[in-house]
Formats: sequence, C-alpha cells, structure tokens
Amino acid sequence: WRATSKSPPPPSASTPSWLRVASKSKKMPSKSESCAVLTAAGSGSRLCCEGPKALVELSGRPLVWWAARGLRAGGVGAIVVTAPASSIEEFRSALSDIDDLTVVAGSDRSRQESVALGLAALGRCEADTVVLVHDAARPLTPPQVTARVIDAVRGGAGAVIPVLPVTDTLKTVDAAGVVVGTPRRSDMVAVQTPQGFRWDVLIRAHEEGASLGADEARAATDDAGLVEAIGGTVHTVAGDERSMKVTRPLDLALAQILVAEETSA
Ligand code: CTP
Ligand code: MG
Repeated sequence: WRATSKSPPPPSASTPSWLRVASKSKKMPSKSESCAVLTAAGSGSRLCCEGPKALVELSGRPLVWWAARGLRAGGVGAIVVTAPASSIEEFRSALSDIDDLTVVAGSDRSRQESVALGLAALGRCEADTVVLVHDAARPLTPPQVTARVIDAVRGGAGAVIPVLPVTDTLKTVDAAGVVVGTPRRSDMVAVQTPQGFRWDVLIRAHEEGASLGADEARAATDDAGLVEAIGGTVHTVAGDERSMKVTRPLDLALAQILVAEETSA
C-alpha cells in the first residue's frame, strides 16, 4: 500500500453511516466547544508505506481525513493536526474541505512531543475546556465514542480514555524474552483514542513529562499515562472495535473491509 493523494473524493453516499457528519440542526448538543489535537506526524514504519502513514488512502481519502471527519461528527470544534514537517502542504490540501482545522509541524522524535506541539498550537484555553487527543491512525472511530469521551470530561472527569476488553492473554517478559508474569486478563483493557482531558490537567501532565518526549523509546505511549504519572485519576468509557488502529498492513486491509461493508449496506 502506498500513499497516493490524487484520487477523486468519494461521493458522500459512500461514507459509512456511523461516520456521517450530522447536519447543523442535528449536531450533538454541547455546553461549550471542545477541541482536539490529531496526531499524524508519524512515518508508519510498521505499515511499510511510501510517505506518511496518515496520507495512506482508504476509499479515496487519506486516513487523517477520515479521522478528522469522525472527530467533527462527534462534536469536536477546533482541530490541530500535527503533520511531518516536510509534508505540511500536502496535509493542508488533503484536509482543505474541513473547516476550523489547522495543520502544524509535529515532532520526528516522539508522538508525545507531537502532541505537545499540537497543544502549543491550540493556544491557551479555559481550564475546563475539553481537549481530545486522537490518532490519525484510527480513521474509523465512531462519533459516539468521541461524544462519550467528551461527555465524561464535561461530567467532571479530568482524564478519560475509551477502552475494550482484551481477548489475548497478556504476559510480562524480561529482556531475554522469558515470561515473568501473567496479569489477570480480566484486570486488563486495551486503550484507544480519542482520549479526553480538562485542558489544565493535560497541559500540566505534558509540562511535567516533557523531558521523556525527546525519545520515542522513553516517551509516554498515550497521554493518559502522563496524567497517571502526576497522580491524576484516569476514567474509562466504552471504546469500539471499529476504532481499531492502522499499524500493520493487515490493519489497513481490515479498515478497507469495514468501509466497504458499511458503504454497501
Ligand atoms: N505520531 C506523531 N508523531 C510522531 C510519531 C507518531 O504524531 N513522532 C502519530 C502517528 O502519526 C499516529 C499516532 O501518533 O497517528 C500513533 O502512532 P503510530 O500508530 O505508532 O504511528 P507511526 O509512528 O506513524 O507508525 P510506526 O510506529 O509504525 O512508525
Ligand atoms: Mg509510532
């Protein structure tokens, strides 16, 4: 699979029903607008594509476009996309039909640092503004998941993550690959994005964890982890299987099947 940017846009009828943007009158009610950082600055080394992973196409549109549309359909206002510094113009043109969206350069050192750059571009918000962090690598997140996360933060949580039960048994191993433990599967969950935060909580977590961001191997793999590190409580809401992350070629094949099934339904 390779990123090709010039196929025609799909007709709106081919958008899966769960991703269709509600018309203005049907927009989900909101006390105040929420905003989001959409991370898309990764290269996609495990997908083995040419060019940035977020520009790889699904049914004629790049992954980052699907992810941004899904956020908007879930009730998100301003969106800041972190793109690879060398591809900013390509991202801007791929996302030109989505309003209230800004593309800025992310980091080539870690996802965590890309999020920090996106937050800086978002600028100062009210302390209780809901800020989401979402991965462009999750193009098909149903708007209902986004809305659940936003509602939970508005309901008083400082940090909220969507989760699913794990189906594989998980083990901890040492550096030599020898098993050192088997956590109870029923105690474990798989974590998705968008993750939602009060703005003041997320900013403090990123400020205090900033030094880890210089290197992906040490950096936090999600933003909730930074909140945990400063002693914050992280709440959970139900995630969704369709919010799967496109990491390897098999994931992209699954995403293509999901879009095709929905559009033929
Ligand atoms: N990301 C980012 N900045 C980075 C690294 C990752 O904004 N320096 C983003 C990716 O674009 C992606 C999300 O973080 O949307 C989750 O990362 P992942 O799925 O690991 O994507 P990549 O880092 O691109 O893929 P890989 O690790 O296989 O290279
Ligand atoms: Mg990565």
